[in-house]
Amino acid sequence: MDRILVLDFGGQYDLLIARRVREHHVFAEIKPYGKISAEEVKRGGYRGIIFTGGPASVYAEGSPLCGADMLETGIPVLGICYGAQLIAHLSGGEVSPAEGSGEYGSAALSVGKSALFDGIPEKITCWMSHSDRITSLPPGYTVTASTGKCPAAAFENSEKKIYGVQFHPEVSHTEYGRYVIGNFVKKICGASGDWTMDGFTERSVRELREKLEGRNVMLALSGGVDSSVAAELLCRAVGDRLTCVFVDHGMLRKGESEAVVSVFGGRKDMNFIRVDAAERFLERLSGVTEPETKRRIIGEEFVRVFEETAKACGGSDVLAQGTIYPDVIESGRGNSAVIKSHHNVGGLPGEMLFREVCEPLRDLFKDEVRHVGELLGLPDSIVRRQPFPGPGLAVRITGRISGDKLNTVREADAIFREEVGKLPEEERPSQYFAVLTDTKSVGVKGDARAYGYTVALRAVDTDDFMTAGWSRLPYSLLETAAGRITGEIPQVTRVVYDISSKPPATVEWE
Ligand code: XMP
Repeated sequence: MDRILVLDFGGQYDLLIARRVREHHVFAEIKPYGKISAEEVKRGGYRGIIFTGGPASVYAEGSPLCGADMLETGIPVLGICYGAQLIAHLSGGEVSPAEGSGEYGSAALSVGKSALFDGIPEKITCWMSHSDRITSLPPGYTVTASTGKCPAAAFENSEKKIYGVQFHPEVSHTEYGRYVIGNFVKKICGASGDWTMDGFTERSVRELREKLEGRNVMLALSGGVDSSVAAELLCRAVGDRLTCVFVDHGMLRKGESEAVVSVFGGRKDMNFIRVDAAERFLERLSGVTEPETKRRIIGEEFVRVFEETAKACGGSDVLAQGTIYPDVIESGRGNSAVIKSHHNVGGLPGEMLFREVCEPLRDLFKDEVRHVGELLGLPDSIVRRQPFPGPGLAVRITGRISGDKLNTVREADAIFREEVGKLPEEERPSQYFAVLTDTKSVGVKGDARAYGYTVALRAVDTDDFMTAGWSRLPYSLLETAAGRITGEIPQVTRVVYDISSKPPATVEWE
């Protein structure tokens, strides 16, 4: 299988770049800069390298750099934004602060002749976000595209197959960005495009069978798409040596626990066990307000429950989880700033009873997981289920958590989901839910003053959950939902609608 290395220099778009590469059926792997040498890259057999963007300046002290030998491996390189400036910097060019305040947003790009721009019109709109620019190209390089403000918006040394673009081909605001990435990975790197989910499923079952031979595996099954797909894969690989444990931490949505039991409860081949741990989670979260602490506590408690269940079942060697690629990367394994620790990864305590952790989906993006789920014959209700964070409603209650607050957000969420669920399927947002904020406000209920909670409704549209826009839901729907929430839930006096996009906000509030 051909692979492209995405070398991360601290930008927020490393995952998006990897996903864009995979859209061409080429496997992309992200590594933080400095964690892999040019020699290792060569030995790794990568077909191409992409340097990501990043917020630093190449000329600043302590900026993220790699050795100039990364450009001498003979493997084609594409540098994006900071990555392009780095190519210039490492090869003897000059990078300086841009005139004025830099260039942000859409720009008209004039495109010249280059293998990178094959099949692309001469004038396109691209997305720019930079405060530095390349003022002098290194010897052997030529300019292949420019904007009014940026004369070297793309440059290359076609002989060495090294390419730099100042704009961001990975974001959807850049027209033909997909072509730029496709031209690089397919035409310039010659990657064969054999990364398919059919192939993944077959290979994964085979590898899991070999790796886990004779060992007992315990899987954390939440009923969400990731852990359900992992369960199905593992079940095919190890049969009844798999035990699926559903930890009900008491922070699930209304009716969810019952739904998980109804789908998996009858699966004898999965040795399904439900553990009711609601009280102990609530106890450990008592008084905690800091979001990362909540996530860490839930992660730890989760593993403790597992350990106890495993002991009670007579022991298990391997703990399996439905961790997916964005969880791994966003949990700060790379050099990008830690956004929030996804509990599947970030919260695992050091000493564990299990000798090993097995994460069969850790290389996959969400849409790839759904595709595998379809291939494995999982029902639509699971494969198309909207995502729900592992720490559950705990990260949808800002501030302290209590049983009452959980009930309040659960009811509000159920009402909102019911109302949105009345829209035709194709008009529903990618994810929609209610958040119980820590803000209390004054209202009037039954002619009396009421001092109650503010519920925030959140609905987003996204392909990949790495970037997301707020959904333009019909006013009538919002009005009905708000009326029902304040009318049916005595503790709530006010409902607001979250109109923030990601970035800079995230989908969840914590
Ligand atoms: P954020 O809030 O990071 O969310 O923009 C992106 C997507 O990830 C989901 N999410 C999680 N999923 N464990 C998960 O399995 C977690 O800890 C977690 N936190 C957020 C979130 O619902 C959204 O779909």
